[in-house]
Amino acid sequence: MGIDPARLDGPIVGIASTWTGTMPCNLNQRDLSDSAAHAIHAAGGVPLPFNTIAVSDNQSQGTPGMRASLISREVIADSIELMVHAHDFDAVVCLVGCDKTVPAALMALARVDKPAVVLYGGPMRAGRWRGSDVTIQHVWEAVGAVECGVAPREELDELESRACPGPGACAGHFTANTMAVALECLGIAVVGDGLIAAGAAAEKAAAAERAGRLAVSVAADGPTARTFLDRRALRNAMAGVAATGGSSNALLHLLAIAHDAGVRLTLNDLVALAARTPVIASLAPSGAWLAEDFHRKGGTAAVCAELIRAGHLDGAAPTVQGGTLAQVTAEAPVPDGEVVFTAAQPFKPSGQLFVLRGNLAPDGAVVKLAGTERTRQTGPARVFDSEEACAEAVRSGQVRPGAVLVIRYEGPAGGPGMREMLSVTSSVVGAGLGESVALVTDGRFSGATRGLMVGHVAPEAARGGPLAALRDGDTVTIDMDAGTLDVALTDDDLAERLAAWTPPAPRYDFGVFARYRACVGSASEGAVLKA
Ligand code: FES
Repeated sequence: MGIDPARLDGPIVGIASTWTGTMPCNLNQRDLSDSAAHAIHAAGGVPLPFNTIAVSDNQSQGTPGMRASLISREVIADSIELMVHAHDFDAVVCLVGCDKTVPAALMALARVDKPAVVLYGGPMRAGRWRGSDVTIQHVWEAVGAVECGVAPREELDELESRACPGPGACAGHFTANTMAVALECLGIAVVGDGLIAAGAAAEKAAAAERAGRLAVSVAADGPTARTFLDRRALRNAMAGVAATGGSSNALLHLLAIAHDAGVRLTLNDLVALAARTPVIASLAPSGAWLAEDFHRKGGTAAVCAELIRAGHLDGAAPTVQGGTLAQVTAEAPVPDGEVVFTAAQPFKPSGQLFVLRGNLAPDGAVVKLAGTERTRQTGPARVFDSEEACAEAVRSGQVRPGAVLVIRYEGPAGGPGMREMLSVTSSVVGAGLGESVALVTDGRFSGATRGLMVGHVAPEAARGGPLAALRDGDTVTIDMDAGTLDVALTDDDLAERLAAWTPPAPRYDFGVFARYRACVGSASEGAVLKA
């Protein structure tokens, strides 16, 4: 391998890269891995790089391929865990990007508990189209508009060619960038390095070198990963997610990380934190700005500093770069009042993530309010047994204003893989139904979804949850103020229908999908695999 034996007394540092050449999100990670390796070598360590798989949510969105996305979180986590276990590295640098790779790395680090530094590969720069900044979210909504016949295909093609102009994760505050903020609030990443754009190659390379040097410095007797994955750190991460109006997927991921770190943390704990935390950043899709704007205005450091000042984040928590979170963010820019706000005059008074319970979701369902002011809807259910069936009904004009769309058998086990429903929600917006239709599902939503959308319904339909008993025309009520999700049926009605219910045949009866279906737990507990 070309390693001078004399160097083997130095720390052996594994570099886990989630590079794949299949998507822009992680495209820069080979370069980052090289930069980190160079710095590790220069600092006296021995870099040993390796790779995992990664799945792009946007490329698989709206297709059966999306079932692979959440499952990939487990495969990536297992891959890193196995490599660290097998090679007994003294420290690990994890390079992450697209949605699932961030929680996956943290889950692996929680299991192996080695000294570690995580670096986010960075967001994509915005595209420009017709004088405005555009992202993949605009593309999806244009897809919806074309499929519903309200926009020409040529317009979509033109937009598509402009919206994603280079490497990096989706440019809005969708799941990947949400998790990048969480990383820095945990203290396991250098604050300020994650949101450097992937396209800013020199700056990003310098960040990778910092991560490499840091890994060497903590390898011998530095803090191990669980130092940054305890209850305090996870609560800080949730505060960062809520304060930036982050993706509902963060709930699923923080619960899974807590599970693997042996930390007791519930969905209720996380959502209660969100309710207490003001939203102090105006980021798309709930706000106006993109990741590069946010980074320019101080990014995660500015948000952390303001949350610490206002008592919403524990500034005494340690960071891998040395010093407390309060110390490393002390010089952050003050809120500019346009992208980053003060806690006293926030963008929104409280977090936009909510848990609903009721006779349709005894174990909870998750809502992220984005791009809508509606907090209540009662309407007749239109029940679909797959994302495709619902999408077809929306696109062919069979859905009337006021309906509550229900998509079931898309949960962690039912999908399997808990697909995101972005293509349906984009079609709803594209069909002009965004303000009049609501959606309820045991699947998930993309961070780019807008509207009154209830996901993560638990227990899921495939495991005999109440969604399995719903029929077209049942009256469903979503009430955010009361925190409820109910159907106008008695307990006896539901029990009678469920007694007559037979589970649908699994979509896959062999291979990874069948194994996942058999082992995955409830979304309300992070959809982790049961040992
Ligand atoms: Fe990879 Fe959005 S699809 S970050």
